[in-house]
Amino acid sequence: MFRLLFGIIIGILLCPILGYLWFTRGNPPVAVADPPLPFERQITHIPLHARIHRDMPKTVPIQATADNLIAGAQIYREECAFCHGIYANPSAVGANMFPHVPQLWEKHHNDVVGVSDDPAGETYWKVANGIRLTGMPAYNRILTETQMWQVSVLLANADKPLPPEALNFLKTPLSYEVPTTASLPSMPPKPTR
Ligand code: HEC
Repeated sequence: MFRLLFGIIIGILLCPILGYLWFTRGNPPVAVADPPLPFERQITHIPLHARIHRDMPKTVPIQATADNLIAGAQIYREECAFCHGIYANPSAVGANMFPHVPQLWEKHHNDVVGVSDDPAGETYWKVANGIRLTGMPAYNRILTETQMWQVSVLLANADKPLPPEALNFLKTPLSYEVPTTASLPSMPPKPTR
């Protein structure tokens, strides 16, 4: 009986002490190349999906018109392409972040391009609120609501034919200025903080 109690007490003390030492001696993964913790993906993705499906807007207030798709492509190029890549040109930075940044113009299973299989409202939630501890920024103080919808609607239509002006923004390498034409819609002003 005494030995059992002794074992339990040692166990209760030993576990937190070993945990504390592991935690404070530089062992947990903190560098991008470190392997993930066991079940890290599940632990972070289950609550994220539950939150998004609870809170995402269920209706889309704008149409996928040529003007909105072109504006979305311009916003994408300025704000997102650095991490999420452009057509046939994945981002080197995105591949060297943890988690890796999904390349939103890459075709994967069943001809889905990027997040074209997600509703625009789900992408809008991610753009507006960001995804904590991943590097995905929250844009709700950087872009207007219309701009966030324009880029979300663009991504929901990434598997469909897009207007040539939109493709121009999405295909020109980031090191080049896109030659713009007079017919392009002007960008709405950014919100003031
Ligand atoms: C600094 C880098 C960075 C920038 C800039 C960035 N993102 Fe992200 N984004 C990320 C990372 C990292 C993730 C992955 C998060 C995860 O794994 O949960 C992500 C995830 C996403 C996702 C979810 C993808 C999926 O497969 O479910 C969408 C959609 C998205 N970003 C859209 C955007 C849009 C639109 C912009 C610009 C307005 C943008 N991001 C700007 C880093 C970035």
